[in-house]
Amino acid sequence: MTLSPQWLDELRSRVTLSTLIGRTVKIQKAGREYKACCPFHNEKTPSFTINDEKGFYHCFGCGAHGDAIRWMTDQRGLSFMDAVKDLAAEAQMEVPAPDPRAARRQEQRATLHDVMAAAQDWFVHQLGGIEGVQARQYLENRGITAQTVREFGFGFAPDSRSKLKEALGSHGVDRLVEAGLLIKVDDRDPYDRFRGRLMIPIRDPRGRVIAFGGRILGDGEPKYLNSPDTPLFDKGRTLYNLDKASPASRQTGRILVVEGYMDAIALAQAGFPDVVAPLGTALTEHQIERIWKMVEAPILCFDGDNAGQKAAMRAANRALPLLRPSHSLNFISLPAGQDPDDLIRAEGPRAFAALLEKPQILSEKIWSHELAAEPLDSPESKAGLKKRLSDHVRDISDQDIAQHYRQEFQERYEKAFFANRGSAAQDRRYRRPGSPFTAKYSASTATDDTKSVSVSGHDLRIAKAILGGLIRHPSQISRHFEELTLFKLADSQLQDLLSELVRQAMRKETLDMQGLLTILEQTDCYNVAKGLLRADALNFTFNRKLPDPAPSELIERAHRDLSEAIQVITARPGLEAALAEATRRVQDNLDEESYAEQQRLRQAKQAFHDRLMELTQIDDVV
Ligand code: UTP
Ligand code: MN
Repeated sequence: MTLSPQWLDELRSRVTLSTLIGRTVKIQKAGREYKACCPFHNEKTPSFTINDEKGFYHCFGCGAHGDAIRWMTDQRGLSFMDAVKDLAAEAQMEVPAPDPRAARRQEQRATLHDVMAAAQDWFVHQLGGIEGVQARQYLENRGITAQTVREFGFGFAPDSRSKLKEALGSHGVDRLVEAGLLIKVDDRDPYDRFRGRLMIPIRDPRGRVIAFGGRILGDGEPKYLNSPDTPLFDKGRTLYNLDKASPASRQTGRILVVEGYMDAIALAQAGFPDVVAPLGTALTEHQIERIWKMVEAPILCFDGDNAGQKAAMRAANRALPLLRPSHSLNFISLPAGQDPDDLIRAEGPRAFAALLEKPQILSEKIWSHELAAEPLDSPESKAGLKKRLSDHVRDISDQDIAQHYRQEFQERYEKAFFANRGSAAQDRRYRRPGSPFTAKYSASTATDDTKSVSVSGHDLRIAKAILGGLIRHPSQISRHFEELTLFKLADSQLQDLLSELVRQAMRKETLDMQGLLTILEQTDCYNVAKGLLRADALNFTFNRKLPDPAPSELIERAHRDLSEAIQVITARPGLEAALAEATRRVQDNLDEESYAEQQRLRQAKQAFHDRLMELTQIDDVV
């Protein structure tokens, strides 16, 4: 559709810009102009001016500048045509329709919009009615406030095959079918699509309802039922909450992308209004492009579990061919099994804000995914990694960006496999400063901390307990990379299991016991692992099956004890050696100093023993 410049001028002249802007921004008269705090950047004193005569706004702070149409595209995030249509509707101007077919389509859509608006009103009304009690209770249980219910237009579809059909009958059954509100199978009588569900309206960028998502109130399948694609609704081109997120993103300079619409709503309620969600599908090219119109590097928030990480990689793969300078994707991973809604409910908005502080950039995401995808224990598997990385680079169509990726992957690859060759080179980045515990108990002739720790005899039994503890508390593996990679267990099966645990934890930061066992099932270590979970001789706090959900004190106690046990095992060989040495010296020259040293080491050894005994005293924990 082409619009003549004359027609557009007419449109601009009929719109009073200050009225339009005044709807979203507080404005003050200042002489012949209006002033406001600029909605395009954060400021406390107004530098944004509106001139109705000229039909322009201008910000002296950030340089934002435009007319009414530009306001609608830049502030509201509408497409040019949508902006024009909205303004024309207000100015009571007819948008010229180019050909009869398009005109008919437009007319058809207009009536469908009426149908959807009527359905929305009806669902909202039902939510407030007698039958809506269960749905209201459900919303309350989920912690959704009355204000959020209003803002997001929650409604309720009663459990009936005909109530909507009857209530909206005046629109005609055919329209209701076309709008996706009724289901028609063959030539049987059409019936209500949404029955006994909490209704969530899906809006277009202009805020008009174009589809619905219906959530079942209890358990049942499907959990969510969405409108089918209709002349108004194209799933792959729609982003949930775009109408609200787009203006919000102008303030924050950020867009968050989550997987579910309940997550978007929960985030908005928790103070993150700049959030969108696709509608149950992987992000499409169209959706990525649409998001890039708002910000250059949106943050994709995925569940840390397998499915979530797969989804993250799907989005990454989708984006590679589309990349252009400055445009990319960022990622954060939530704790396994939690979506943003769960996280916020469990730990509050701050926990989510903390995750947002260190998103992973796209190249890093791809690198770490591929690095962890396969064990890298042979020349072939390393070449495999190289190939997968270069396949990704090949998918990038922007040659400049591709070149940068190639270089970055090359550097990371070399660093991982060639740099600092030597003992434990690869693990060095996981090292952390020695813990206070080690300092407290270790011999004064401190051992070189890169030396391996041979574990045998009685300590091997404790090592078993530790391995069992790590399987129960996999999150702790990465906390102890440093020590664990030094362990040399005198039992090869246990050593293999330990190596496997360390490898899995390096691959994936968020592991839980079930996930870990599923992975171990594919390895030779599985039976040993299962055995360690059963072994009843291992009665440290961290070997115990905790109640579900476990009180945080119990978890913390288990983690702390696990950490101490590891420290004991790590420090003991050094202590034993120092004690042997001191004893030899005492026997050789029997001087005061050697004797004092030997006594001190004996006490340290006793302290180890006592501490280990304490760690197995678990009665007081519950
Ligand atoms: P999830 O299954 O992750 O649900 O679906 P959720 O967002 O955590 O929802 P709650 O918290 O259990 O209520 C994510 C998205 O996948 C689509 C929906 O768009 C949903 O928002 N989906 C999910 C469906 O379309 N159908 C389904 O049966 C399930
Ligand atoms: Mn959820």
